[in-house]
Amino acid sequence: MSGPFSDLTETLFEEKSVLSESYQPDKILERDEEIEGYRYALQDVLFGREPDNVMLYGKAGLGKTAVTKYMMDALQKEVSIRDEADELFVHDLNCNGKTLFMIIRRLVNELLPDSASPFPKRGLGTGDAFDELYKQLDRHGGTHLLVFDELDHLDDADTLLYELPRAQANKHIVEAQIGVIGISNNYTFRNSLSSKVRDTLMEREISFRPYHADELRTILNDRAKRAFAEGSWDDSAVAMAAAIAAKDQGNARQAIDLLRTGAEIADRTGDDCIRDDHVENARELVQRGRLKTRIQDQTDHAQYILETMAYLEKDYETPARSKTIKTNYETVAESWGAEPLSTLKSIQKHLSDLQMLGFLNRRAENKGRKGGHYYEYQLDLDAEIILETRDELEGQLQ
Ligand SMILES: Nc1ncnc2c1ncn2[C@@H]1O[C@H](COP(=O)(O)OP(=O)(O)OP(=O)(O)O)[C@@H](O)[C@H]1O
Ligand SMILES: [Mg+2]
Repeated sequence: MSGPFSDLTETLFEEKSVLSESYQPDKILERDEEIEGYRYALQDVLFGREPDNVMLYGKAGLGKTAVTKYMMDALQKEVSIRDEADELFVHDLNCNGKTLFMIIRRLVNELLPDSASPFPKRGLGTGDAFDELYKQLDRHGGTHLLVFDELDHLDDADTLLYELPRAQANKHIVEAQIGVIGISNNYTFRNSLSSKVRDTLMEREISFRPYHADELRTILNDRAKRAFAEGSWDDSAVAMAAAIAAKDQGNARQAIDLLRTGAEIADRTGDDCIRDDHVENARELVQRGRLKTRIQDQTDHAQYILETMAYLEKDYETPARSKTIKTNYETVAESWGAEPLSTLKSIQKHLSDLQMLGFLNRRAENKGRKGGHYYEYQLDLDAEIILETRDELEGQLQ
């Protein structure tokens, strides 16, 4: 019996999950210096001593999380075969959107015996949570590496970084040892800490720089070999994805996304080989997606103005003055059942904001004393994308 799925076969992909975000590579490429820095900072764990605190810095997609996971796994393995090493516990905590209390409570709950009830959400304070944490750490003994990812998003990183590194010196913990690993996107994070924390943290800093095109190529080639069936990709398509991402932010996540999206496009069009044009299409698709998100993030009236500009553009009426834009904008706003903003000033303010955000181009016109001085605006992006996005958004609201 045949159904809508029966003719589907896996052609290009051998193991597509290798290109997914959750995939943890078993080897890390092109990050030897960072690995060396980590190795040095954590080596004391192997000899039963307290390790250095580590702070990792670097923009999105540069391998901070992947390298950290790799190092933690490698250390666990090594600890298990060395007699002089204490037992090792690794705690992964993502701080995004969390308060200090939530994070410490989460740690406590990880450490409590299975039979115990969780640390209460209400009624006790952060100080109580720290007390319980120290008690539990001592109950376990051994070495605990506490990995705080996206640490710059924590509401009170200062207190965290004041308390934990001093726990042993202050005799809050006696049986256990801890090492703090903080990961941050933000290079100025250290400056946001108080001077007493900065002066005493004594952390090792490892900074992750953007990948070059040839490094991304190595990473992508390795993934391609595992992800795709033999002979189903062109080396130049891989090189292209690497080059695009290197030119942008040197972000490995973006490079992998481009390759995966390119492969999906090839797969959908029934091609048996991933070529440059598939990656090029993937780039456009990804850019379009990003642009749509940016349009969505604008206020309703800013979106009506963008929509107005798209219509004017299609009717060859741009560049246009704010007065013309205002008249047309009123029709657009009303067509969506909204009350238009009434003053020219408010429209001009929106136009100026949209220009600063890169949606519009502005040029100054000076027509002498009689004509006066004014600005003319036109779109700096494809009108179709705006109209498509607007349709989709309003469609979702219906
Ligand atoms: N050197 C590398 N070798 C193999 N894969 C890598 C390497 N660097 C990054 N990757 C892969 O690229 C993707 C992004 O890396 P990762 O999640 O570690 O970035 P990050 O620096 O933690 O970014 P963010 O700040 O956004 O969390 C992951 O899929 C990861 O497996
Ligand atoms: Mg990360």
